[in-house]
Amino acid sequence: MTKMHKTGVIALRMGDAWAKAAHSLENTKLAMVYDLNFEKNRRIDRKFYANSGAIIAKSEDEIYKSGLDIIIVASPDHFHAEQSIKGLKSGAHVICEKPLAPTVAECKKIIGAVKQSGKFFMTGQVCRYAPGFILAKRLVDEGRIGKIAFIESEYAHDYTYAVGYDNWRKDPKIKREGVIGGGCHAMDLVRWLAGNPEEVCCYTNRILLAASAWPTADTGIIIGKFPHNVIGKIFVSVGVKRPYTMRTVVCGTKGTIICDNTSDHIRIFEEKNRKETGCKFTNVPVNIASHNVTEELREFVSYLDRNRQVPTDVYEGARTVAFGEAALRSAREGKPVKVEKI
Ligand SMILES: NC(=O)c1ccc[n+]([C@@H]2O[C@H](COP(=O)([O-])OP(=O)(O)OC[C@H]3O[C@@H](n4cnc5c(N)ncnc54)[C@H](O)[C@@H]3O)[C@@H](O)[C@H]2O)c1
Repeated sequence: MTKMHKTGVIALRMGDAWAKAAHSLENTKLAMVYDLNFEKNRRIDRKFYANSGAIIAKSEDEIYKSGLDIIIVASPDHFHAEQSIKGLKSGAHVICEKPLAPTVAECKKIIGAVKQSGKFFMTGQVCRYAPGFILAKRLVDEGRIGKIAFIESEYAHDYTYAVGYDNWRKDPKIKREGVIGGGCHAMDLVRWLAGNPEEVCCYTNRILLAASAWPTADTGIIIGKFPHNVIGKIFVSVGVKRPYTMRTVVCGTKGTIICDNTSDHIRIFEEKNRKETGCKFTNVPVNIASHNVTEELREFVSYLDRNRQVPTDVYEGARTVAFGEAALRSAREGKPVKVEKI
């Protein structure tokens, strides 16, 4: 008989998608939810929670004391380490939203807690579950575009309209770094496709959101060296004036793939077809599911049921943060920086 996993969710905005996934999957039960501002945050879907059968916790502690099997941490980044560690100590398996934490030092604390608890852990790098990126990864792994030489990705999302509850994303006391907070999506995707960066060089500026007194860099360009002599580039902007996108290009010895998490197709050019079809891309249709949290949770649980660790583990989350931290250090110091190996 498959086990029913009692699941709790901390914070209910991005966490709303997790809670609804836990409510809908056949072997998870949405048992408890907690949000610090459950009554005040008008964007919380209170009607759903009232009808969901889940207990609405009055305090964060209730979440840790309720014998939950899985705790999902979807609060603002600066709470991730503390809440993930408490979740692990409570005896639950934990899923934590991206970025794993704002700094490598905090990531290492979570790694320590995972080791100590012996529990399973997932970093919520949702781009690995977007159908277009999954297809691109499969084609790369199958060798369809040959040996990769160059890769680029971008995270372009205007945070003017996504400042978060109580403006936490632009709070000068929190100083959330968009290069890590948002850029971790593109950095993780590039790591997934091309491996861990060895060295990075980065420039940042603050022009696009300067008028709104954004407390950190709003735009950055990172170039990096990857294993097997691959070179890459990542553009991160949390102020760019355009629709949200994560356009990604992978160039190999036998072809090129262009994909995005907001397109209904990916584009592939294969050198072997040049004679027959000319030098043009072929569009391969895919579903658009840029925030495929249900598949993320389904995969985590399918690994749990086999007593195995899901690939997007705590180390994967930490390596992506190390990528971003090295980039920010490079921007500060004006020189290339080696990426910490985790
Ligand atoms: N995977 C993705 O694509 C994706 C997308 C959006 C957000 N996120 C991540 O999700 C997290 C939350 O972002 P968001 O967009 O939902 O922010 P948000 O500001 O819209 O919502 C945050 C929620 O957390 C609650 N909250 C704040 N502090 C809390 C605490 N200490 N304990 C419990 N609840 C608390 C707030 O009341 C609010 O309801 C961030 O880490 C962000 O990076 C991931």
